Amino acid sequence: MTPRFMGVAVALASSAILVNPAPWHVEAQAVAAVVGQSASVRHDVPLGLDLYMPVPEGNPMTAEKLALGRQLFFDTRLSADRTTACATCHVPERAFTDGKLIAEGVRGRKGTRNTPTLVNRGYGASYFFDGRAGSLEEQVLQPIEGEAELAYEIALVVSRLQQDDDYQRAFDRAFGSPPDAETLAWVLASYVRSILAGDSPVDRFRRGDRRALSLEEADGLRIFVGKGNCSACHVGPNFSDEEFHNTGVAWREGRLTDPGRFSVTGLDEHRGAFKTPTLREISRTAPYMHDGSIGTLEEVVEFYDRGGDPSPSLDNDIRPLGLEADEKRALVAFLRALTGSVREGTR
Ligand code: HEC
Ligand code: HEC
Repeated sequence: MTPRFMGVAVALASSAILVNPAPWHVEAQAVAAVVGQSASVRHDVPLGLDLYMPVPEGNPMTAEKLALGRQLFFDTRLSADRTTACATCHVPERAFTDGKLIAEGVRGRKGTRNTPTLVNRGYGASYFFDGRAGSLEEQVLQPIEGEAELAYEIALVVSRLQQDDDYQRAFDRAFGSPPDAETLAWVLASYVRSILAGDSPVDRFRRGDRRALSLEEADGLRIFVGKGNCSACHVGPNFSDEEFHNTGVAWREGRLTDPGRFSVTGLDEHRGAFKTPTLREISRTAPYMHDGSIGTLEEVVEFYDRGGDPSPSLDNDIRPLGLEADEKRALVAFLRALTGSVREGTR
C-alpha cells in the first residue's frame, strides 16, 4: 500500500500574514483562535479549503517532517507484534477510513468506534469523536498505546526507531537529534495535517462554474442549506462546526450505548453527543456514524428525515424534515458531489 505523493506544496515559513482568500475565511480565523498559540503556514491547498491552516508555532511543517511522518504512518513497527500501522485503519484509498463498522487493531481486537476519515483534520479544533484530545500532537501518540489499536508502548517504539539507521538519519536531518516521544508526535501530526481533501464539483460550483453540478445535485445543495437544515452543523469549508451534538445515534430504546462528549465534560446535555464529522469524501467512507451503524447515504438521509433517533436532550436542530422522495435523492446526489481529490505528504 504505497499511494503516490500528491504534492502539497508547503511553504516553510512559520508565520504568514492572514489575508482574505476565501469566502469562509472568517471561520478559519475562529479555528486559529481556538488553537491559540498558532502560526499559519501557506499551503497549496485544494479548491474550497481556506488557504491558511493553523499550525502550532512549535511544530512548523517542513518537507523532512512530512516525509518522516508519512513513513511512520505506514510502518507496522509502531505495533507490538509488527502487524498493524496507522494506515491499516486509516486506509488512503478509502479516504483514510477502513470500511468496517468498528475499528480492529492488533490481533483483530475490536475497539468501540468507527474509524473516522483524516482529511482536513489540520483545520480541526479537537480530536476523537468526543474531542478528548486538544491538538494533533496530543492525539497521534494515543493509538500507539490503545489496546484495540497498536497495543504497544511509546518508549519501546522510540527505542525501535533509535535502533534503525534510516530513522536515525532522518530524525537527525529533521531535528538534529535522535527520535524521542516528542519528535515522534511532531512528525505524525505534521503528516496528518498534510492530508487535505477539496476540489470537488461542489467547490467548483461555488466558485462560479454553474455546470459543475447537475440540476439534481444543485437542488441537493439548496436542500442541504435550506429545508434539510444540514448546514446548521455541517458548515464552513470542511462542512463541520467542530462542535458536539446529540443526534440520537447512540441511544437504543432509551439506553445510552456510548457516552460521547459526556465522558469529557460530565455535562448532561453531552450524553450521546459527538463531534460533527466533515462531509468531504463522504461517498468513500461508509459505514457512517461513530459506531458505523448506518450503512448508506440513503439511510443517513432517512435517519435525518425522521428527526434522528428518540433520545433525551436531542439537539434542537434535529427534527422531522418532511422531505419528498425526489428531495431525498437530490440530497444524496449532493453528498456524493462532495467527492474531490485527496492530497497527502509532500514532495
Ligand atoms: C485500530 C484502528 C486504528 C489505528 C491502528 C489507528 N487509528 Fe486513528 N482512529 C481510529 C478510531 C476508531 C478513531 C476514533 C476514536 C474515538 O473517537 O474514540 C481514530 C481517530 C483518529 C484521529 C482523530 C480524528 C478526528 O477527526 O478527531 C486521528 C488524527 C488519528 N486517529 C490518527 C491516527 C494515527 C496517527 C495513527 C497511528 C499512530 C492511528 N490513528 C492509528 C482507528 C485507528
Ligand atoms: C445538530 C447538528 C447536525 C445536523 C443538523 C446534521 N448533522 Fe449530520 N452529523 C452530526 C453529528 C454530530 C454527526 C456524528 C454523529 C455520530 O457519529 O453519532 C453527524 C454525522 C453525519 C454523517 C456521517 C458522517 C460520517 O463520517 O460518519 C452524515 C453523512 C451526515 N451527518 C449528513 C447530514 C445531513 C445530510 C444533514 C441534513 C439532513 C445533517 N447531517 C444534519 C451533526 C448534525
